Amino acid sequence: MAGTSVIEFNKIKICVNDQVYEPAEDTELMFEIINAEKNEKVLEVGPGTGIISVSLALKGAEVTAIDINPYASEATLCTAKINKVQINIINGDLLSPIRPFVFDVAVFNPPYLPFEEYDSWIGYSWSGGKSGAESLIKFLSEVKASRIYTLYSSLSDEDAILAELKNIGLCIKTKREKQIGLETLFGIELVKCLG
Ligand SMILES: C[S@@+](CC[C@H](N)C(=O)[O-])C[C@H]1O[C@@H](n2cnc3c(N)ncnc32)[C@H](O)[C@@H]1O
Repeated sequence: MAGTSVIEFNKIKICVNDQVYEPAEDTELMFEIINAEKNEKVLEVGPGTGIISVSLALKGAEVTAIDINPYASEATLCTAKINKVQINIINGDLLSPIRPFVFDVAVFNPPYLPFEEYDSWIGYSWSGGKSGAESLIKFLSEVKASRIYTLYSSLSDEDAILAELKNIGLCIKTKREKQIGLETLFGIELVKCLG
């Protein structure tokens, strides 16, 4: 891996390396919808550089960040250090490294493209399986949180995502869209459906 460098995104200094996802429009959309308060227990799956986890930790949230990519976990540790915050950083697949726990907030900007490029660690940043929704659907089926912030694309299988939400009783409370060329990104806040 080439060395780590430090850049700034959303007014936060972050560590990047050539195997980690550099924050982009999807990250910006996540920032537009996420809300977490001081002392809330937050789980972020797929922190990448750690930009979202660190910004929530800077607000006083207690953050656990799990990424499958070891270079992302390394970057998250570096980003936490340079911003002088503590985060529980775990390298692993979705929620498999932790015991069942109900978080206040769960965050996942998942790989959402219909690709299966798993021959490099960075490929896990965009490869959402055949439907583009496989990682998100698995995450939704495992996670327990009062509020969930996530994202999908017009290139992901929206019907499969909506069917899973119905199946597990989650409703969309907030939805924001961002157009990127021919693709639309949808940032969503999910809560338990009432009644
Ligand atoms: C689109 S990037 C988002 C990075 C960062 N959160 C951001 O918004 O800039 C998706 C991240 O999810 C991670 N990821 C993909 N599949 C995962 C899995 N099964 N378990 C944990 N992390 C995963 C990738 O390694 C990558 O860091």
